[in-house]
Amino acid sequence: MIEKRLILGGEFVKTDNLVEIKYPYTQETVAKVCFATEEEALRAVEIAKEGAKEMAKLTPYERYNLLMKAAKLLEERAEEFARTLVLEVGKTIREARTEVQRAIQTLLFSAEEARRIGGEVIPIDAHPNGRGKFGFYVREPVGIVSAITPFNFPLNLSMHKVAPALAAGNAVILKPSERTPLTPLMLGEILLEAGFPPSAISVLPGFGEVGKVITTHPDVRVVSFTGSRKVGEIIARQCGIKKLVLELGSNSAIVLHKDGDLQKAVQKTVLGGYAIAGQVCISVQRVFVHEDLFEEFLQKLSSEVEKLRVGDPMDERTDVGPMISPAEVERIQSWIDEALQMGSKLITGGVACGDKVSSVLAPTVVSLVPPNAKLFREEAFAPVVVVNPYRDVEEAINLVNDSDYGLQVGVFTQSIDTAWAFIKGIKAGGVLINEGPNFRADHMPYGGVKFSGVGREGPKYAIEDYTEIKMVIFNLNG
Ligand code: SIN
Repeated sequence: MIEKRLILGGEFVKTDNLVEIKYPYTQETVAKVCFATEEEALRAVEIAKEGAKEMAKLTPYERYNLLMKAAKLLEERAEEFARTLVLEVGKTIREARTEVQRAIQTLLFSAEEARRIGGEVIPIDAHPNGRGKFGFYVREPVGIVSAITPFNFPLNLSMHKVAPALAAGNAVILKPSERTPLTPLMLGEILLEAGFPPSAISVLPGFGEVGKVITTHPDVRVVSFTGSRKVGEIIARQCGIKKLVLELGSNSAIVLHKDGDLQKAVQKTVLGGYAIAGQVCISVQRVFVHEDLFEEFLQKLSSEVEKLRVGDPMDERTDVGPMISPAEVERIQSWIDEALQMGSKLITGGVACGDKVSSVLAPTVVSLVPPNAKLFREEAFAPVVVVNPYRDVEEAINLVNDSDYGLQVGVFTQSIDTAWAFIKGIKAGGVLINEGPNFRADHMPYGGVKFSGVGREGPKYAIEDYTEIKMVIFNLNG
């Protein structure tokens, strides 16, 4: 049994507020964690004010060195992190190892960006009133950054907020998902061991009351949240005047055009639709297939999906593990039922599997789903893929855009003209040609349009949000 204290301004603090963390595969308790309340959250902000001053004294080179050291420490504990990720998320051990390696990359990119934060000379005398003036801007840390992260990538999505915030010279307060606080607390341990000023590091497992303090407090200057649209909307309403970065959900699509590589589209749908049991913001949820290829695609997809090994996430051979809880399986089953009642066709899956483990849903394919079904409209966050046919490029673009969301979309075509028509027509933060929408390299700009959020992650882009521009003007005429 793992026992963990919360981290408050660099100190490991025991609270009476002990919460049990369950292994999603068996529902067994694997850890007990000290959770924060409003009181610790308020203290964290007070301590972070000191932390921000300490961070501001570090040079870019010192911040780079600390982040590089943290990357080394994470590498040394990689397997321990991966096994803990399996226990708290229920993702497979192979997926967990990938997450740890990605988190190391996120740290390394953040370290490198710490040495590149610069400014720009502005030609003030390009303005009619600018004669005799010289100007430039520099970027300064905002002070305190609050980060709230979801259960699906507790390590790497925490890293995407914390590492660029530290690279930019800020103090951070991290509130991980209440279901998956273990690896975020281990991340806090690593940052402290690397030598960051203790007052700059707080990791507060907690519920909404903690989130409310660290998002609404006037001394917190940036809130970076990844999670559901519903919570994102609450934060946006209550956080006040400060910078807000929101990475919310999506119901990402793949389009397979008539000249596209069907085999590759099947392979990318399987990879992108069922990884982490579909609990990824850029999971493949809707696939639009040109009518000429529709039947062949469906048949090949179902045969590949049925080959997936489902079950124990610690088993090296498992492809698809459990969802985060049995309640989530029940929810998605009711969405599948609704779609079937509306005339959709169940191609494969659709049922919970295993005797004791009702948190495992068999990888599911449903076809001919009407656009008003929840399975089409909402974010499924489950191992379910919808496959619908279309006639021409215009119809495919309209189907993709018939969504409140717009994060990333994958298009399979051999024609540069068709690819360009999709790139121009699709409303999303990213269009991937001959690749699934779930592809993400950790240094690229990542984020969405519409209700998928505001702002972009990727260390370079996050640092723009975690710094303020200070403009400097010299009047050269004295
Ligand atoms: C997400 O689910 O928001 C992140 C996906 C990723 O980083 O791969």
